[in-house]
Amino acid sequence: MIKAVTGTKDILPSDIPRWKYLENTVERIFNSFNYKEIRTPVFEETPLFARGIGEETDIVGKEMYTFSDKSDTSLTLKPEMTAAVVRAYNEHSLGAQQSLVKLFYISPMFRQERPQAGRFRQFHQFGAEAIGSNSPLLDAEMIQMAYEILKSLGLKNLTVKINSLGTPQSRENYKKLLKNYLEEKKDRLSEDSRKRFDKNILRIFDSKVESDQLIIKDAPKITDHLDEESKIDFEVVKEQLKKSNIPFEIDSSLVRGLDYYTKLTFEIDSGSVGAQTALVGGGRYDLLIENLGGKPTPATGFAAGIERILLACENEKSLTVPEPSIDVYLIRIDDGLESFVSELGGKLRKENISVDFDYLQRSVKAQMREANRMNAKYTLFIGGDEFKAGMMNLKNMSSGEEEKISLKDINSIILKLK
Ligand code: HAM
Repeated sequence: MIKAVTGTKDILPSDIPRWKYLENTVERIFNSFNYKEIRTPVFEETPLFARGIGEETDIVGKEMYTFSDKSDTSLTLKPEMTAAVVRAYNEHSLGAQQSLVKLFYISPMFRQERPQAGRFRQFHQFGAEAIGSNSPLLDAEMIQMAYEILKSLGLKNLTVKINSLGTPQSRENYKKLLKNYLEEKKDRLSEDSRKRFDKNILRIFDSKVESDQLIIKDAPKITDHLDEESKIDFEVVKEQLKKSNIPFEIDSSLVRGLDYYTKLTFEIDSGSVGAQTALVGGGRYDLLIENLGGKPTPATGFAAGIERILLACENEKSLTVPEPSIDVYLIRIDDGLESFVSELGGKLRKENISVDFDYLQRSVKAQMREANRMNAKYTLFIGGDEFKAGMMNLKNMSSGEEEKISLKDINSIILKLK
């Protein structure tokens, strides 16, 4: 038997109600902040992500699904949306019609990571990008939207972590400080961190190796070496979060795994999902639009992993989604009524009533079991002496009440079921 590819997952009909509930919540909250949906292709030309996310990142270096098509163009399945959204923003000059463009998305992403609980090779993100303003109030809005969505899903065990990476200039100065601090300790760093020392020194903060952690815990903190503007902006974000009653921690090691960030970075972690704790990640990326060929334009955004959020909901038992149901199940009592049942079903469906009935010649008892299994609100019994007398029996499945309805009086069924 051919099975699904490692790290990918079917979303089965029994999973769908929770996905739909989450997607509806996401759309409702993004709409309330006036974000408009955008959908971009599943694959893009590889340089978009290589240039956008950064050649030295794990995503670009190790995790992208990259292939050549028949005309030898290198393509990549999107590992994240920000670069793709910026590409679309630049290509369609979205900023020409509106100076602040607020977008949201819900989409599959692809990263060839080692699969484990909460980490997949095809996973789904929802997220938002606001392009065109350098206001730290928008950074705070990102955290607020993400937090509100998680809260609306009933999640409790959440930690909001924020940091500022400063402007590129202040970050370069800080990197020098960090390099000086780590220079003499370099030999004691793990092999991975030694590589990062030369290529992408800030990423040493992401190391999970205990001996690395011991060394970096006393390193100079980036938040102590911010330029004036980043410092002020960071204060505004903190103030705004306090006003919105969102508890947060400052984590000066939060450098994030993508290179486009400037100033604010943030994550929202859950204590309910095991090792992969980050439900949400985001931050400001003021240079990405011009790096990808657009006019210099500040921007900020975030993305959240849907599978991880649903896992947290499951572990916290936070989400009670109504069982799927149908309006009415038609029960055929006698053989030979199949086409009548099917015609009646058709009429009701035209009225937007959800209807199902038996296609397998099952007994009345089996049909009743099926109606229960489908959570039918009503069953309509068709056949027997009643049918000969021109009547059918409509049963309300929650109250048990029964009522006779004339075969000619379809309208009264419609009124009841609507
Ligand atoms: P990211 O931190 O790479 O950021 O991903 C955001 C979220 O996607 C993570 O917090 C996690 O919940 C989920 N995620 C990432 N990788 C996986 C995986 N392999 N399996 C399951 N879930 C995963 C970004 O993608 C940025 N584009 C966020 C952003 C938007 N920054 C600014 N705007």
